[in-house]
Amino acid sequence: MHVPKVLEIKRIETENPTVKTFIFDWDGGEVHPGQFLMVWNFQDEKPMSISFADPVAGEIGVSIKNVGKITNQLHSLKEGDKIGLRGPYGRPFQMAGSKILAVGGGIGMAPVFAFTTEAIRRGLDLEVICAAVTEEELLYVEKLEEMEVKVHTATDDGSCGFCGFPTVLADKLLQDDDFDMLVSCGPEPMMKALFEIAENHNISSQFSLERWMKCAVGICGQCCVDDMGWRVCAEGPVFWGHELRLITEFGSYRRDSSGTRHKL
Ligand SMILES: Cc1cc2nc3c(=O)[nH]c(=O)nc-3n(C[C@H](O)[C@H](O)[C@H](O)COP(=O)(O)OP(=O)(O)OC[C@H]3O[C@@H](n4cnc5c(N)ncnc54)[C@H](O)[C@@H]3O)c2cc1C
Ligand code: FES
Repeated sequence: MHVPKVLEIKRIETENPTVKTFIFDWDGGEVHPGQFLMVWNFQDEKPMSISFADPVAGEIGVSIKNVGKITNQLHSLKEGDKIGLRGPYGRPFQMAGSKILAVGGGIGMAPVFAFTTEAIRRGLDLEVICAAVTEEELLYVEKLEEMEVKVHTATDDGSCGFCGFPTVLADKLLQDDDFDMLVSCGPEPMMKALFEIAENHNISSQFSLERWMKCAVGICGQCCVDDMGWRVCAEGPVFWGHELRLITEFGSYRRDSSGTRHKL
C-alpha cells in the first residue's frame, strides 16, 4: 500500500515561470482536494498537494514550484519520464457551506484549485482570491475564469488586481457579502490572519498546513504540532478553524528536518 507507484509523466503544463503541473494517468482510487502525494525522484521524497484530479479521464496532477534541490530536478523532467508517487494521504477539505470564499497564496493555490474544481463540479457557490507577490506568479487565473469562477486577484506589488495582501481583500469581501465558509492554503502568516478574520466574521474556516514530512503515514512523528501532538500528515493537512485554536505553534514557528524550531 505504501510502496510508490512508478508512473510516466503524461503531460506537463507550465503555469508560470517557476511552477509546472505534472499530470499522470491514475488508477490508484479516489482522491479528494486537500490530500497530498509523496513525490519520489528515486532519491528523496517530498509531499505535494493534489492540484488536479479528473475522475472521468482518470488523470491526476501535482503543481510543483521550483524552489530547491528536489523540485529543481523534477522541473528538468520531460513528458514520458518516470516519477514515483505514493498516496493519496491526509485529511481533505470538507465540501460544506452554501457560499464559500477560497483564498490561495502563492503555491498554496495548488490545493485551493483542486478544491475549487470539485466545488464547481458539485454546483457550490464560491469565489476565489488568487494571491501572489507579482502578476507573473499568479496561478490558474485563466483556468478558473474558463470554469466561470468569480476570481479576485491580489498582488503585493499591485501589478494585477487588488494591490496588497489578500487578507485585506478577504476582509472586505466578507463584509460586503454573505459567505459562510472560508477555505485557504498559503504562507502561514497569511493563514493566521485569515483565521482571525474568519473568527471575527463568525464563519467556519478550513486551512491546509505545511510541515516537514518524512513518512507521511503517521509513524515517524516528524510533522507533529504543539500543543496537541496532531500529525499534519494524518490528522491534517487540512484543519478546521476551531482545531487551529488548539495548535499553539500555528502562525508562530515550525520545525525543520532535525526538529529544530524556526520562527515564521
Ligand atoms: C502537505 C504539503 C503539501 C505541499 N504541497 C506542495 C505543492 O503542491 N507544491 C509545491 O511546490 N510544494 C508543496 N509542498 C512543499 C514541498 O513538499 C517541498 O517542501 C518544497 O517543494 C521544497 O522542496 P525542495 O527539496 O526542492 O527544496 P529544498 O532545497 O529542500 O528547500 C527549499 C525550502 O523548502 C523547505 N523545505 C524542504 N523540504 C520541506 C518539507 N518536507 N516540508 C516543509 N518545508 C520543506 C526548506 O526548509 C527550504 O526553505 C508541500 C508540503 C507539504 C507539507
Ligand atoms: S510525516 Fe511521519 S508522522 Fe507525519
